[in-house]
Parts: sequence; C-alpha cells; structure tokens
Amino acid sequence: MNPFTPTFGTSPPLLVGRDRDLDEFRDGLYGGPGSPERATLVTGLRGTGKTVMLNAYEDAAASEGWLVISETATRGLIDRITHEHLPRLLIEADPRATESHLTAVSFPGGLGVEREVTERHTPRPGLRSRLTELTELLAERGGSGVLLTVDEVHRQGLDDLRILGATIQHAFRERREVAFVGAGLPSAVDDLLSDDVSTFLRRADRRHLRTVGRDDVAQALAVPIRDAGRDITPDALQIAVNGTGGYPFLIQLVGLHIWRADPGQGLIDVDQAQHGVDHARRRIGQLVHASALADLSTVDRSFLAAMAHDDGPSRTSDLATRLNVDRTYVGQYRRRLIAAEVIEPRGYGLVDFTLPGLRDYLREHAASSHWASGDET
Ligand SMILES: Nc1ncnc2c1ncn2[C@@H]1O[C@H](COP(=O)(O)OP(=O)(O)O)[C@@H](O)[C@H]1O
Ligand SMILES: [Mg+2]
Repeated sequence: MNPFTPTFGTSPPLLVGRDRDLDEFRDGLYGGPGSPERATLVTGLRGTGKTVMLNAYEDAAASEGWLVISETATRGLIDRITHEHLPRLLIEADPRATESHLTAVSFPGGLGVEREVTERHTPRPGLRSRLTELTELLAERGGSGVLLTVDEVHRQGLDDLRILGATIQHAFRERREVAFVGAGLPSAVDDLLSDDVSTFLRRADRRHLRTVGRDDVAQALAVPIRDAGRDITPDALQIAVNGTGGYPFLIQLVGLHIWRADPGQGLIDVDQAQHGVDHARRRIGQLVHASALADLSTVDRSFLAAMAHDDGPSRTSDLATRLNVDRTYVGQYRRRLIAAEVIEPRGYGLVDFTLPGLRDYLREHAASSHWASGDET
C-alpha cells in the first residue's frame, strides 16, 4: 500500500520539520492562561501544511485531555460554534446534562433572523456564556481546556472572526483554559490584520510555515517507504529529496510517484526515483499552481508570465521593458506579489518565484493562457 498522502488537508505518514512549533504549543497548554502560544496564527503558502498543522495541534491538545472545536472560516462560523459544537461538548463534559444544556441543544440556530442582524458585531451571549459554562465544567473536572481551531481565515470572514476574537480575549482575561489556533495564506492574514478591529488576531503568535530542510525531507520519504515494507537506495533518495525542493506538498507527491514507478520492486532505485520526480513535477501544476494563480489579478499574472522568460531571478528593469510599463508601475506589482509570497526579492533589483516549478508551469501555460482567461478582478 502506498503510504503517501498528496491530498490537501490529509495528514502525512510522517510530519517533519514542525516539532519545535508543536513542542512550544504543548508548553503553552501546560503554561496556563497567559501563555503566548494559546493564541497562534499559522501562515504559509498553499501546500506548506497549514491544515495538517491544525490537525497536529488538535491531536496535541486532545492527548492532554483538551476538548477540540475544529472549524473553517466560512459563513455561519459563530452559529456553528454556538449551536452545534459547544452544546455537543457541554453534553460530553457533563453526561448528566442539566436542563439548561438540553434547552440549548433543542434550539439549534433557533434565535431567528432578527437577533442575527442586531448582534452581528457584538459577541453573542450564547457564545460567551456557553464557552464560560464549558470551561467551568472542565475546571471542576480536573482542569483541561478547550482548543478552537479555524482554518482558511480570510477577510471575508472578518465579522465572525472579530466576534470570536473578542470572546476568546474575554475568556483569556478571565483566565479560562482556552486556546485558539487560526491558519491562512500570508496575504489573506496580512489583509485581515490590517483591519484595526482585530486586535486579538494581531497580537497572536505568528508561525510561518516554510519549506523543510533536506534531512527532514529524507526522513519524510524514507521512513514511510521502509515502514510500508520497501526500501530506497541512498542515491535514489537524494534525487527524490532534490525533487521536492523541501516543499511539503511535493514531499507527498514525489513520494507517491517514486513508489508507483515500479511497485513490484522491493528497492526503489535511481531510475524509479527520477521517473517519480518527473511525474510529480508535471502534476503539481494542476494541483497547486492553477489555484494559486486563480487568486491573482490578470495584471499580477502577466507580471509573472514576464518573469517566466528568465531562467533564474528576473531584473525589475527587464520586466518594465517586457511589460512596456514604467518602473513605478513594476514596483507596485512587485510589492503586491511579494506580499502574496508568490515572488521574493533576490538582491538588489532582482525577484524570483517562491513556489517550486511555477516558472515551468507558466511557460507551458502562457501560450494556452488557460489560467489568464478568468473573470477575476
Ligand atoms: N511537515 C510535513 N511533512 C510532510 N508532509 C507534509 C508536511 N506538511 C504538509 N504535508 C503534506 O503536504 C500536503 C499539503 O498540506 P496541507 O496542510 O493541506 O497544506 P495547506 O493547508 O497549507 O495548503 C498534504 O498532502 C500533507 O500531507
Ligand atoms: Mg489548507
């Protein structure tokens, strides 16, 4: 059986390079209310492992006996937490549920449209009081707490995140056993934090997920292969490691394809590894780049297409010539794309791509302009 998991949101067979973040989070749970890790914001590009880190944070908390609410910042976030998660956990924490808990459960979302409109910008009593009730129950029963995780935080969910932030901040002030971990794309999070109302999120402990070092990548590939009953030669492993560029999604995708190259063989050799890497590199475009590009404006994409003419870092002066625009204009898009972490500065006047393989993808698709035909603004 193939051990690798090149699927967004699916935890890998071996999570590498994140021990420190997880250890510090555990320290934060032990450290009690006031520990900075109890409000954490995970950022990273697509495929760097934000969602699986949330899974890992949840597992860490659960193994300390904490209750977990795992959510995504889509419409109705506050309603789901107030009317679904908290009532469920209240019953779980107190099996001899009292009248008030049962009442809470018997009116799911039943507060009506009017309440919803008038209370949009204030913490709803239901949310705060249920969280208070739950933390008090847990404190009576030996002192565990509640972890809330919210994936894909984005400006569109600002109203709900603001309410949630105010509620959690209040719980912190009352020294309740509560922790929060949010995750989102760096540009989405920066955009969110620029709003001066989300003080809670701005103060959160930022954890930026980067690419993983070579030794960690080698472990992430070799250990699952061996655990699944096959092996890989040292040379083949080096080829596979190089092929990932340390990018977590590619670790899984390369792993899958080197495994598949010749599944009948017990040993994965250099040929299979090379074959697998080539295959993974071809597939990553559809899986990652297409969606990353879909988030950008048409002008952003033409800037990237102009960069793809170069084999290495691009000179901003060359880009101005290619795009037939002045330097101020180039500077503006350069800043936007750096903020979106699609490109990064490489010394004076130079920029390069951050995602492995994006250059090749752009070259292949620039002609068909399949991604440039969107109706995005
Ligand atoms: N630290 C890691 N080690 C090995 N594989 C990882 C790691 N982090 C993520 N992955 C793998 O990368 C892929 C993308 O992870 P995901 O959490 O969905 O990314 P994101 O939410 O940032 O887009 C998944 O297949 C996951 O198993
Ligand atoms: Mg994700």
